[in-house]
Amino acid sequence: MKGIILAGGTGSRLHPVTRGVSKHLLTIYDKPLIYYPISTLMLAGIREILVICTPEHSQAYQSLLGEGSQWGIDISYAVQADPNGLAEAFLIGRDFIDGQPCALALGDNIFYGAGLSGQLQELAQPRHGAAVLAYQVKDPERFGIVELDNEGRPLSLQEKPISPRSNWAIPGLYFYDANVVDIAGQVKPSDRGELEITSVNEAYFRLGQLYVTRLQRGTTWLDAGTFDSMLEASHFVQTVEKRQGLKVACLEEVAWRKGYISSDDVQKLAEAFNNEYRNYLVSLLESTPSAL
Ligand code: TTP
Repeated sequence: MKGIILAGGTGSRLHPVTRGVSKHLLTIYDKPLIYYPISTLMLAGIREILVICTPEHSQAYQSLLGEGSQWGIDISYAVQADPNGLAEAFLIGRDFIDGQPCALALGDNIFYGAGLSGQLQELAQPRHGAAVLAYQVKDPERFGIVELDNEGRPLSLQEKPISPRSNWAIPGLYFYDANVVDIAGQVKPSDRGELEITSVNEAYFRLGQLYVTRLQRGTTWLDAGTFDSMLEASHFVQTVEKRQGLKVACLEEVAWRKGYISSDDVQKLAEAFNNEYRNYLVSLLESTPSAL
């Protein structure tokens, strides 16, 4: 399965900061925000990743992430000229997808929790149709929502509803079969002028091919799109890292535990740092790599 990270958009809720820098390059505690969705795709076992960003920030992403070979993955780049909506990712990414199944991760979404890796790997298995997540929230009006029956099957979908039929939000991580490019091509802009991902999910739902996995209660899902949520996400990562001495979304570590890079590779990558990140990478090599 291939993976797209959408890192465009206007970031208007973070103005004036995002007038000069892309939201996904801002810091969540000790790493750039985009490291978190990259780690999510890597944990799912996805190694071919397309980063879609705005034209003015493309160079910065390429300087930060390169071609991904340092982490044993393959990163390529495309631009979205205007924030025309999430479903446009599949039109921009048509050549990259090349008739394969494809996951989409929003560049400002963070996932963390026990058992998540296994759930993600399961979701990335080839299947006919689409697989989305559901996460219980207190404020469903802010999200795309799915109403579920007792067996967890979808009954209806709503986009930012005034009167939500459930409090199961659909987080920004979606898994599709190869038909997604054709389906996205048929989506018409919504009232707010965007090609909505909910329209893509509705098309799969009408075909009876939308599968929903409820995220476990112990899993954390955060979207870092406002000043408060960025700060909260930073505090969350800081708390986990300080308490356990384990980093969240350390791409070198994920690559090493996945067996994409060797201990020698980690040692070399560590030497390029001169801070606590280096100490962390070196300390990893003193432990036994447990598989993810
Ligand atoms: P949003 O948070 O909905 O939009 P935004 O990032 O432009 O921020 P704001 O609402 O403050 O103006 O977008 C969710 C994610 O999807 C975010 O990581 C940006 C990305 N995105 C794109 O890459 N292209 C798009 O056309 C849209 C709408 C979003």
